[in-house]
Amino acid sequence: MMYDQKIKKIKEEIKNFKIKTSQDLETFKGQFIGRKKGMITELFKEIKNLSLEKRKDYGKILNELKKYVKKKINHVVHKKSFFPSSKGIEFDPTIPGEYSEIGSMHPLSIIKERIIEIFMNIGFSYIEDREMEDDWHNFTALNIPPLHPSRDMQDTFFLGEKNFVLRTHTSSVQIRYMKTHNPPVRILSIGKVYRNETVSSHSHFMFHQAEGFYIDKNVSFSDLKHTIQYMIHSIFGKKKVRFRSSYFPFTEPSAEIDVFHNNEWIEIMGCGMIDPHVLKNVNIDSEVYSGFAFGIGIERISCIIHQIQDIRTYFDNDLRFLRQFTSDF
Ligand code: DAH
Repeated sequence: MMYDQKIKKIKEEIKNFKIKTSQDLETFKGQFIGRKKGMITELFKEIKNLSLEKRKDYGKILNELKKYVKKKINHVVHKKSFFPSSKGIEFDPTIPGEYSEIGSMHPLSIIKERIIEIFMNIGFSYIEDREMEDDWHNFTALNIPPLHPSRDMQDTFFLGEKNFVLRTHTSSVQIRYMKTHNPPVRILSIGKVYRNETVSSHSHFMFHQAEGFYIDKNVSFSDLKHTIQYMIHSIFGKKKVRFRSSYFPFTEPSAEIDVFHNNEWIEIMGCGMIDPHVLKNVNIDSEVYSGFAFGIGIERISCIIHQIQDIRTYFDNDLRFLRQFTSDF
């Protein structure tokens, strides 16, 4: 039979082939595009006997024919009635699933990813650590011994015999990391923290913090200022930034940082030079090394960017709220 006629005949057969079951589907595939004796496959093999000119033309035609077969397969498997859920028809895990909708990132995850990227760009490494902490890592090693008044500022979820807490801040990561790593270190960590607070529009018993710290020889307060300014400008664009002197037990000197937003100063984070007592608690010689640390509230940043008034909306899981965010803010 002439090549042309063969092609015509195959086309007819493809068209008339009725695929009703997955068994039919397999036969169909085998008959036309099967590797061993598929009709189209065989024609491809014969193509070498044709003249160079014709080879090109027929190659094109055969590829079209192959596409036609695949289209028919696709059409059949996507018909809902093809795999009626029940009896006798085996489940084929190789058929692609159907998505009704692809989800979007949670607004807090978007900020998290952005902050990680900002700090990766200046040589920080990212780590995550436990949410259940012991008293030493959450308080004492950070210069907050038992009975220290600053423990009162963070009402706490104690676990068991009060030796364990749900971490009240991510600063505990500093202790965990410095215990097992020698300077220089540049670390960022983001995660959940917990405080025994009444839930309202501006406070929650669970929220997220980012913690960063850098320890090396000769780290100074100007390194801290420059790093924070870089971070804030990367997140908010060129907003005015203000450092206000403050107090944290684990840093000396300490500062709180405000950004100028909607005609007012809004506090967004705390920072300072790591207190020598803290370095001593993790066996780092404060005569040789110095470092800075900072802590940021993730919800606060997101609230400012998106003008959100109520922190609870982040945790309600209302899709009408969550669907509005895209990762390019
Ligand atoms: N841990 C502090 C808090 O939860 C935030 C903080 C302030 C972290 C100053 C720091 C820092 O690392 O240096 O309120």
